[in-house]
Amino acid sequence: MDQKPQATDEPQVAEEGFSYGPAPAPRRGFLAGVAAIAAGGLAFLAPLWSGIRAALEPLERPELDANLVPVAKLAAVPDDGVPHKYRVVMDRVDAWNTHRQLPVGAVYLRRTGDSVEALNVVCPHAGCFVNVAADRSRFVCPCHKSSFDLSGAVNDPASPSPRDMDSLDVEIRGDEVWVRFQNFLPGRAEKEPVV
Ligand code: FES
Repeated sequence: MDQKPQATDEPQVAEEGFSYGPAPAPRRGFLAGVAAIAAGGLAFLAPLWSGIRAALEPLERPELDANLVPVAKLAAVPDDGVPHKYRVVMDRVDAWNTHRQLPVGAVYLRRTGDSVEALNVVCPHAGCFVNVAADRSRFVCPCHKSSFDLSGAVNDPASPSPRDMDSLDVEIRGDEVWVRFQNFLPGRAEKEPVV
């Protein structure tokens, strides 16, 4: 006698190699995952790159002539051929910060007519501040008695200074005297900028 299959309430168990639902699509799922990771990565990289560019932008700026600074009104510099001392202040700019109007040194300005000469007040021997002699005929250094004429040239062979006083570039801009301020290493025969 034939045995007909019987309906049953027992849960059916798939035999190995079979399933009862729609077959999963593992390859499509894998590709979708890769695409999602790539999209997420791109979404993360864009702002990251913007941040890096913003952080590096100051390093890409062209350098300005930051040492050229106004020192005095031309009319305020006596036209008497005698050196007069002026303080130098300037903005100090590093890659990310601007430090405004810091005192960085002083200069002697000597005006004759419309011509203005500038000398750094620092003695090239060992860095003391040079004074104008009482009779206003020369500079003298109080530390070791170096002596310079009013143009800044060493005028006494006994002076220990290895070079003349350090001259600085001057520009007259409108009614102002601008100086390209720079300090130089003491104790050297040649002017070597302090960096
Ligand atoms: S520091 Fe000026 S003579 Fe020595």
